[in-house]
Amino acid sequence: NPNLTFSPTHQPVFVCLFVFPSGEDSGFNKLSTDSSTLNVIKYNMRKSLDLEQEGCYLQAGKKECLEECGFNATAKTIFIIHGWTMSGMFESWMHKLVSAVMQRESDANIVIVDWLMLAQQLYPDAVNHTMSVGLHIANMLNWLQDEQQLPLANVHLIGYSLGAHVAGYAGTYVRGTIGRITGLDPAGPMFEGVEEQKRLSPDDADFVDVLHTYTREALGVSIGIQQPIGDIDIYPNGGEVQPGCALGDVLAVAGNFMEVMKCEHERAVHLFVDSLMNKDHMSFAYQCTGPDRFKKGICLSCRKNRCNNIGYNAKKMRKRRNSKMYLKTRADTPFGGYHYQMKMHVFNRKQSDNADPTFHVKLYGAHKDTGNIFIAVHDNIIGLNLTNTFLVFTEDDIGDLLKIRLSWEGEADSWSSVWKNIKKSLWAWNPKSPKPVLQVRRIRVKAGETQKKFTFCAQDSEKTEISPGDSVTFVKCRDGWEVKPRKRYVT
Ligand SMILES: *[C@@H]1O[C@H](CO)[C@@H](O)[C@H](O)[C@H]1NC(C)=O
Ligand SMILES: *[C@@H]1O[C@H](CO)[C@@H](O)[C@H](O)[C@H]1NC(C)=O
Ligand SMILES: *[C@@H]1O[C@H](CO)[C@@H](O)[C@H](O)[C@H]1NC(C)=O
Repeated sequence: NPNLTFSPTHQPVFVCLFVFPSGEDSGFNKLSTDSSTLNVIKYNMRKSLDLEQEGCYLQAGKKECLEECGFNATAKTIFIIHGWTMSGMFESWMHKLVSAVMQRESDANIVIVDWLMLAQQLYPDAVNHTMSVGLHIANMLNWLQDEQQLPLANVHLIGYSLGAHVAGYAGTYVRGTIGRITGLDPAGPMFEGVEEQKRLSPDDADFVDVLHTYTREALGVSIGIQQPIGDIDIYPNGGEVQPGCALGDVLAVAGNFMEVMKCEHERAVHLFVDSLMNKDHMSFAYQCTGPDRFKKGICLSCRKNRCNNIGYNAKKMRKRRNSKMYLKTRADTPFGGYHYQMKMHVFNRKQSDNADPTFHVKLYGAHKDTGNIFIAVHDNIIGLNLTNTFLVFTEDDIGDLLKIRLSWEGEADSWSSVWKNIKKSLWAWNPKSPKPVLQVRRIRVKAGETQKKFTFCAQDSEKTEISPGDSVTFVKCRDGWEVKPRKRYVT
């Protein structure tokens, strides 16, 4: 391809491929006036998966670069915007994201917005540059609209961390409305709680979707913004603690505290990459008013657009601001798993007022079975003589659910029960007293991913009582295997 060959005699090639010198001696670090500030923002259009290869640089006003770079105004245009940087270099996620986008959208114009010079500053100074960088992107898009009649509806800005707010400013200042902005764990410090014009907000594009992965607060701030700031705001694993990012997990590999923070913050990018690569294994998020209700399994409904795909596959929904959505994920790619809501009425039959049972379930499926899954109960108490709702998450696709084994962890099975017994002894628990007995007759199950509902009955109708160390097995009830949607009147 002659266009990609460096040729000092061919001016347009020179201009578009090597517009900016780089390195300390170029004097960029000394520049501070507005006009020179803007000269350090580069639009690197990617033509090769190899990031080591210089791309081709777009410049507002330089029409020849559009041809040189092979800009296709009728295809999608995707801008990727990085965040604050200490190294002043692209981090490894950039390579992963760019190649995933290129593989998924081979026709698209994929452009890295390189504002590294302005992002490699003290954090407050980098924050201070987000507006001018956003404005610069808006001017670039305006020029593309004028020059190429670029439809803004085909433009998608993807911003990570501080880059998400840069995208927000671009959406504010551009003439018209950008199709979509994706915020990948938008930065929290100096943006949490500020007015909409000064951060990413739903008005910045026709569809604004946000992934929040590191919203845990320390010393009053969180690295990722906590508040919902898009049309839909997805909080994987509650947005706080990402599986695989625990101090122990990461230190074992990286040995550096910064890596722990990076693991959680950057998880948003990796979830997005996952959604680009694993189109056939989409993860769903479910609308819920808060993480606690989600953990209880209350929010697995897809009715009235209450669920959506996460990441690139997210579907635009009728304008609904700040819709909070949740899901659980695996610790690694493919991140998607399977959610089940289980409802069971737990009868107190004998001696169970202070029993405080610890339940596990094992799911038997058409493809495979799960191990014993601990049932995390809200407030650690299973309600007796009440219907309890649980969320059960499994990493494996077990196929159709055939059988459920419910077990009550025995007195001596684990340290948690030892601890519980100590607690009980404080409540005058008498070890010689007869065993507590609970009864569960049925389990109602709803699979989040398929939205199918089933009722499971005790396999042996005589065996519905359960005590510590015991288990009860449930199979699909003979009457009404599947709870069908209400039958329509047949005429
Ligand atoms: C430009 O993009 C459109 C839409 O993706 C595609 O149909 C067309 O073939 C592309 N043109 C060129 C020259 O690649
Ligand atoms: C941001 O920049 C403006 C002028 O460009 C300056 O007055 C202000 O102090 C800066 N704020 C921070 C936090 O650096
Ligand atoms: C549940 O009901 C049983 C029998 O009907 C009763 O003995 C027990 O006290 C009740 N327990 C609770 C916690 O309500």
